Amino acid sequence: MATLAELVAQHTKLDEPATDHLHRLIASWSLLADLAFSDMLLMTKVDGHQHDDEYFVVLGQMRPNNRTTLINDDLVGTTHRAEKWPLVRRAFEGGTLVVGELRIDNVADVVPTWCVPVRDRGHVVAVMVRLQGPLRGSASLYEQSYLSVFERLCAMVSDATFPFREESVAGPGLPRVGDGVILFDALGQVEFATPNAVNALHRLGIYTSAEGRTLEELGVKARVIDRSLEFGIPTLEEIDKGHDVAILFHGVPLKDDHKVTGVLTLVRDVSDLRQLNRVVLNKEAAVREVHHRVKNNLQTISSLLRLQARRSEEAETKIALNEAERRVRSIAVVHEVLSREPGEEVVFDEIVRSLVLLVEDTVLALHPVEIVVNGDLGVLPTDLATPLAVALAELLTNAVEHAFTDFGGSDNEHVGVVTLNLYIENEQAIAEIRDNGRGLGENFSLEVPTSLGLSIVRDIIRAQLYGEIEMNSVASEDGGGTLVRVAVPLSVRL
Ligand SMILES: Nc1ncnc2c1ncn2[C@@H]1O[C@H](COP(=O)(O)OP(=O)(O)OP(=O)(O)O)[C@@H](O)[C@H]1O
Ligand SMILES: [Mg+2]
Repeated sequence: MATLAELVAQHTKLDEPATDHLHRLIASWSLLADLAFSDMLLMTKVDGHQHDDEYFVVLGQMRPNNRTTLINDDLVGTTHRAEKWPLVRRAFEGGTLVVGELRIDNVADVVPTWCVPVRDRGHVVAVMVRLQGPLRGSASLYEQSYLSVFERLCAMVSDATFPFREESVAGPGLPRVGDGVILFDALGQVEFATPNAVNALHRLGIYTSAEGRTLEELGVKARVIDRSLEFGIPTLEEIDKGHDVAILFHGVPLKDDHKVTGVLTLVRDVSDLRQLNRVVLNKEAAVREVHHRVKNNLQTISSLLRLQARRSEEAETKIALNEAERRVRSIAVVHEVLSREPGEEVVFDEIVRSLVLLVEDTVLALHPVEIVVNGDLGVLPTDLATPLAVALAELLTNAVEHAFTDFGGSDNEHVGVVTLNLYIENEQAIAEIRDNGRGLGENFSLEVPTSLGLSIVRDIIRAQLYGEIEMNSVASEDGGGTLVRVAVPLSVRL
């Protein structure tokens, strides 16, 4: 389906500000359709040389939320001969409201029709057409009031004071006519309130009759009406009572010749929504708390392992326990990050920073090595981030631990550098761990590691994350070293 801008460009010579004006009208006019209980069309004259006759094109169509629609067809983008829509032509050319009846395709009866000229900077740029469905008996009192507000808004459309420059007055989250309507006069006194609106006032503890009173006189502390009256702009304010009741007030100023003559106020009881929000927030806090506890427990386990390592007599046992301790801590790092930012996804950069600190903490005391991190992987799903973090911790530890032992003999000039490059390429998270150390031994093979560290890494990268890992000795002018390249697909849902 063509957009409004495309239709305007295709059929008319209207400029950008005029198109914006029509855009704003369409963003706000569900309010008008509801107040009029009517289908609405926005039409403008086709500006083309190919036709001898005059045509109108439909730029927009709106159905009422509170009545069944009169027109089942989607008319947007359709063109119509002007003589079939004489009222539209008269409104467009004469620039005044034209009321009458029309015959419309696929509608049995003649349709009572209003044609409202839409002005922008003094010129009629389109016609807003109201097509009224069959009335159901006589209109109730507040239906009549709706219609009188609708008329005032139509006059504003002709005067170019509606739609508002600042913001649209209808949209997701905003109260609608069906939610409840209160009309205030120029003095801020209630003229009428619909039954739903009266219910909302009851929820705020107001049981006295609202008519003829201002919000202040009713005991409501709110600036919403005063601000609309004073500045002539739409306003929005939530009025709370205790923790349980929240009513949203949306003030739409009504203007006559640029003077504010009243405020149409849509009210909606949003207490349930607020309560839901609170539940969601509580749940988030609970998840955060769980991660926090998991992290604490892992830290307890790691200190137990450390204690036990210290007590053991055999060197080999000591080393094994210390290694286990380090692994537990690298998992704790991930939960630490999640306890701050719970969710399905996590900023991997934060985990990397903690991991580097952890590695530095554990092994750098042995020999000075510089760890440099380049790039980052952005936001990753947590079920990918956790195993990847554990694998990277192993590889960084290996580089710091093995690359520089027995290296260069007496050459103390050599500065050990471990570089971690992180980037995304072809939907894959890539991590390159490079050191400028002694390189891998001749007999080294990634495929037959007997040691635990690389077995864990292989298992995580290949079996768990469906990724690839390569380890190679590299040679360059300033010495050699080892390059480990890990690639993990981002799309894998675990
Ligand atoms: N960056 C590196 N530079 C040189 N040698 C390395 C490097 N990474 C790994 N190695 C060699 O590969 C071997 C296997 O590593 P692996 O991590 O599996 O075991 P480990 O580090 O010895 O023990 P652990 O199970 O505690 O990790 C190491 O012992 C080391 O000889
Ligand atoms: Mg290792």
